Amino acid sequence: MSRKIIIDTDPGIDDAMAIFLAFNAPTLDVLALTTTFGNVSVDLATKNALTLVEVAGVDVPVSRGVALPLVRKPLAAPDFVHGKDGFGNINYPAPKCQAIERNAAQTIVDLVHQYPNEITIVALGPLGNLATALALDPSIAGLVHEVILMGGADTESGNVTPVAEANIINDPHAADIVFQANWQVTMVGLDVTHKVLIDDAFLENVRDNNTQCGDFLYQVTQFYFNFYRKEFSIDGCYVHDASTIVYAMAPDIFTTKPGRVRVAVDGVAIGQTIVAPLDKQYVVDHWDNVPASNICVDVDSPRLLQLMADTLTK
Ligand code: BDR
Ligand code: CA
Repeated sequence: MSRKIIIDTDPGIDDAMAIFLAFNAPTLDVLALTTTFGNVSVDLATKNALTLVEVAGVDVPVSRGVALPLVRKPLAAPDFVHGKDGFGNINYPAPKCQAIERNAAQTIVDLVHQYPNEITIVALGPLGNLATALALDPSIAGLVHEVILMGGADTESGNVTPVAEANIINDPHAADIVFQANWQVTMVGLDVTHKVLIDDAFLENVRDNNTQCGDFLYQVTQFYFNFYRKEFSIDGCYVHDASTIVYAMAPDIFTTKPGRVRVAVDGVAIGQTIVAPLDKQYVVDHWDNVPASNICVDVDSPRLLQLMADTLTK
């Protein structure tokens, strides 16, 4: 039986990689893409999600989500990472299909009720849609099978500030709500995504063996590779968003630990995910009553890459 997932996303070059991986995974059944601002505006994220559906030739509804963070002022879109179009400035033609009328939060609520205890929400961007869905209907927390999110860091440094990861700092209040809700959250953060690199040869293989999505993925990723080359002197890129999909397919590729997560919502540490162990009480206890999340702390990188390559080239 395949695992039913909703992908919440801000495409985004590595979002594209994650989404194609999910579309190609025989063990996953993608029920919807819900969109958010983040790498690009929500309008562009929605257009880009529709493009991914068209390129892959799948029949998956796209539902537009939140345009702004819950509380904080929005950060500028990182066009130096993903390009102005979110797809490495390749000027891809506009998609013909359209988003559904229902917004992202309502789509999440409706699908969770349609398939109680069966839905995994895989979040690849800032977490406003998940927080909004919880506000709309708090009962969904008890009906979601799992939330797997790309974001945050435990001991690894941040990638936007010394302590903050991009998806979390874009909407720290939403992230704090998501970590405190009573559902099973798995955090796939920089502690693991910084341990996995794909390079040009990996993508050449995908381009040459995946007639549907390979060329598109290869083209958009060149801009991302250039960013990594300039910024980190790395030949390749980290596997951020696609790691969540791998986790949904084969969680045993990761080592996890339990921890209670709160998010700093202002000050110099804004966007930091602060992980408290389960067995500690603090004098000032901001972690009291926070449910245990599953924190990914290590990853079998060769196995992850093999599973990605096999899935994307079948
Ligand atoms: C995350 O930030 C975005 O730029 C990527 O798409 C990914 O979701 C990595 O920190
Ligand atoms: Ca993303």
